[in-house]
Amino acid sequence: MPIAAYSPFLSDQRRAYANWRARKLAMYPASAAELMVQVANPISVSNAEQEAILSAVRRANMAIFAMGDGRLGKDDLRAFGAQFGLRRLDANLYADEDSITSLQVSDRERKRDYIPYTNQRLNWHTDGYYNSPSQWIRGFLLFCAQDAAEGGENQLLDHEIAYILLRDADPRFITALMHPAAMTIPANIERGVEIRPAETGPVFSIEASTGNLHMRYSARMRNIQWRDDPVTLGAVEFLQNLWDEGSAYVYHHRLMPGEGVICNNVLHNRTAFHDDPTQGKCRLMYRARYFDRVAGTNFSDIYDQSYTDAVDGCENA
Ligand SMILES: [Fe+2]
Repeated sequence: MPIAAYSPFLSDQRRAYANWRARKLAMYPASAAELMVQVANPISVSNAEQEAILSAVRRANMAIFAMGDGRLGKDDLRAFGAQFGLRRLDANLYADEDSITSLQVSDRERKRDYIPYTNQRLNWHTDGYYNSPSQWIRGFLLFCAQDAAEGGENQLLDHEIAYILLRDADPRFITALMHPAAMTIPANIERGVEIRPAETGPVFSIEASTGNLHMRYSARMRNIQWRDDPVTLGAVEFLQNLWDEGSAYVYHHRLMPGEGVICNNVLHNRTAFHDDPTQGKCRLMYRARYFDRVAGTNFSDIYDQSYTDAVDGCENA
């Protein structure tokens, strides 16, 4: 039976959900410090380093790696990712020619319209939420080549934890957010030319072959059309309150030069920052988005059916 058929992420799988939830929360790292792994040579990650990174990703869908002083080329970053099965890069709009994006403040007119290329705060989102299903982003690397003079902290939240918080608040939120028309991103039109068509899809979905939970989400108010039903709008409001009020499950980390995040496209944001060219402190991040998830961290690899009594048609009784 494919894992998606008895997945704890299905809203009618109550016992499987309860069991998975208990274990997930028990194993969830308490702070960003628990996600940190030192890597001596990014071109050739040792078995111990690899295992430490995978252990963090299995528990929190992310790890923070630290490798030296930030003088790492994009080729090195690509080689690092490939050792974790991250190979199929998304060549998104404004990615550099090698499909790895240099995120820094830009004066170029068109880029300036996109918040990632400014020093403004970046709202909570998962990457590529506007991509079509065939190009959904399952993993990304974010690497700090240079930090800003001030600010530029990231907050990170495992999307499986967001799922738990929503489901615990109201299981109907999950059904609403799994609706195939839950969220629409209008077409991207620049100067009358359609650069990307409108994209409608669910927020949460379960990948049939792996059981992985995927999340498309942006907290931006502008340019998101939510399905007009009270439960969907209630779920959106719940998430907004979560961002406003904060949560002990949210990690806070300001990446220093040489540090990066490897993850299964978790929720994240960024605070505003201030560059100071006179000190050489102009924030520069490399970002690589992948259609792949971190290898060895598929839900089907982690999820042990034996602890769930999962195939249980009577659990709703
Ligand atoms: Fe992002």
